Amino acid sequence: MTDATIPALVPGERLLCGPGPSNVHPAVLEAMQLPMNGHLDPDFWDILVDLVTGLRSLWRRPQGGLTIALSSSGTSAMEAGFMNLVDPGDTVISCHWGFFGSRLNEFAQRVGANVIELTAELGQVVTVDRIMEALAAHPDAKIVSVVHAETSTGADFPLAALAEAMRSSDSEALLYADCVTSLGGQQVDADAWGIDYGYSCSQKALGCPPGIAPVTVSGRAVAAMQRHQSAVPYYYDFEELSKYWIDRPITYHHTMPILQYYALYTGIRLALEEGLEARWARNADAGRYFQDEIRSRGFELLADPDHQLVELTAVKVPEGVDGKEIQGRMLREHGIEVGGGLGPKAPPIWRVGLMGVNATRETADRVLGAFDAVLPR
Ligand SMILES: Cc1ncc(COP(=O)(O)O)c(C=O)c1O
Repeated sequence: MTDATIPALVPGERLLCGPGPSNVHPAVLEAMQLPMNGHLDPDFWDILVDLVTGLRSLWRRPQGGLTIALSSSGTSAMEAGFMNLVDPGDTVISCHWGFFGSRLNEFAQRVGANVIELTAELGQVVTVDRIMEALAAHPDAKIVSVVHAETSTGADFPLAALAEAMRSSDSEALLYADCVTSLGGQQVDADAWGIDYGYSCSQKALGCPPGIAPVTVSGRAVAAMQRHQSAVPYYYDFEELSKYWIDRPITYHHTMPILQYYALYTGIRLALEEGLEARWARNADAGRYFQDEIRSRGFELLADPDHQLVELTAVKVPEGVDGKEIQGRMLREHGIEVGGGLGPKAPPIWRVGLMGVNATRETADRVLGAFDAVLPR
């Protein structure tokens, strides 16, 4: 028998300006060609020590708690926190206003939580006051979960304000924050704000390939994980993971995707060398520039202007225009990926992301130029 062969890979060049992944930084790609160590090589453990320092700087949690990364995409970290923190019947105040918040809500239900849902229209966010009222009505709540940057709508939630309100209340609820699109692209201050369980991804503002999820757990959330009763899937058990990431001598947990961690290491090093404040300012400048320009062409944005993300802009598809066709032409004729609406409830929108290396006015101009070329004014 002759086994069929497959052709050599020839992926097309793309400018990735959708909701993620963004283009990988060239230095990150280079790092993935460095000599690969094994996951039980003591030299790799030293790399991990530096990586943890970098992750801590990125999250702004220089010490305390647990800050590591999961060898799987953002969704895994979304779910892992509930699996490690919530026992059936625990109350979770689940705030959602888009696809990712709804998914987080589903994960809370899957672990058997008593889920109190607070929702808002697409493009809006639930107010901090409403969340604090719900907390007052449910003083036993264990977790308040929110999405900082809702990539499905472009809505930016005032996480700092919620964190401050929770800190100054009597509530002992843990703050559970999806920072998948925000970490590295806008301010995220785990310690100063008091994020108890925060998670992100590698493929957006950090400019790395997809597949790794940075996670930070506060000291009190680590204590809550230790009190947690239900069985936790081994792969996502933070107690087991910390025996590999933190404790020495190391205990084998799983074979790490080493080259992906070289990539993350380099993406974080570049972010810290640029300076987090400078990076947030670059992202804000590119996002606001794109938003001003697209609005000046007569397009409307989905998100409430008071809650407009910088990393992602959801542009409403004008009536009479086939959004999918335009998206396809951007890709085929200009090599530019932009996103469409996500999920069955999505209105007709294009989602334009300027993240990582693409958070520049030059990239914004390339996307605008392509829109100008394919869209009749
Ligand atoms: C806000 C948000 N949360 C969670 C996720 C899931 O992350 P991943 O696709 O890396 O699993 C995404 C992905 O786009 C996201 O934008």
